[in-house]
Amino acid sequence: MIKEIKASELDTRKFIDEKVKEIKSAVGSGIAINALSGGVDSSAVTMLGHRALGKQLRTVFIQNGLMRAREPEQVAGFFKKMGVDIEIIDARNEFLKALKGITDPELKREAITQTFYKKVFGRIVRESGAKFLLQGTILTDVDETVAGIKRQHNVFAQLGIDPQETFGYQILEPLIQLRKDGVRMTGKALGLPEELFTRIPFPGPALAARIIGEVTAERLETVRKATSVVEKLLGGRGAFQYMAILHEDRVTGMRDGKRDFGQQIEVRCWDSIDARTATPTRLSFEVLEQLADSIISEVPGVVSVTYNIASKPPSTIEAV
Ligand code: XMP
Repeated sequence: MIKEIKASELDTRKFIDEKVKEIKSAVGSGIAINALSGGVDSSAVTMLGHRALGKQLRTVFIQNGLMRAREPEQVAGFFKKMGVDIEIIDARNEFLKALKGITDPELKREAITQTFYKKVFGRIVRESGAKFLLQGTILTDVDETVAGIKRQHNVFAQLGIDPQETFGYQILEPLIQLRKDGVRMTGKALGLPEELFTRIPFPGPALAARIIGEVTAERLETVRKATSVVEKLLGGRGAFQYMAILHEDRVTGMRDGKRDFGQQIEVRCWDSIDARTATPTRLSFEVLEQLADSIISEVPGVVSVTYNIASKPPSTIEAV
């Protein structure tokens, strides 16, 4: 039974001191490793781990090719400023290979999870000789996994993996007694920059969650470009989350006076408190027109732009 520490009763200094001691005594003079995604949980664990272990902790950022434009460099840049070196591992081809031909949403998610843990990260851990893996699992992940609500990529039991047996390493989960609010407080106390906390939520399967149908290098590039436009135009308006989705169906359009059987991008922009329910933001028609114009001029091959006006439920925030 995990003992919850509520944000209201969290003394961040005491919590950080305790966790630093626990991590140090578990790892001793050995080597630990962790994967950083740039999300709040993995960022807080990275800082905590570095405070405890310094150079004994190796932090990797796995470039799966499904990230937004310049995302790995941006995240590594945040940490560089705080004196923490992040190794970017290029695994783009492995993920593309694993996703080839898959169109079913759950199978896509499964392929990404398996490629991450069993192939890429598993290999890095084995080669590094690290005996400890630091993970940013939080109490909500455990609850949701136990209740069967959501497949959590970081709860190993659900993946049928015994890490000690499979990889020969032990997992340390220093944030497991906290929920998101407690993690944010801890992250701030560890000196993480405001920008990391104000980033909008982004799903683990990344842009693959925003491609309907097969994920290919070319289709990723299309949705990546559209995402940059949407994030630029819809950022700073207080919306909970906003995104571009690439559809599978093509529609007839016109380009340079010629028929163009082109691609469709759907824009979603959500108002929400906790992502459990959400309603579309009432964007002005001027903003919608700006979105359409910019997407069509900046993303090759797109001839149609739509805006989602359905709520969650029955919609979900992501399309896949
Ligand atoms: P849905 O699409 O289920 O999304 O309405 C709810 C919230 O969760 C995010 N999301 C994910 N986050 N791994 C994550 O870490 C995932 O597989 C995943 N799928 C969805 C989504 O962006 C939204 O904020």
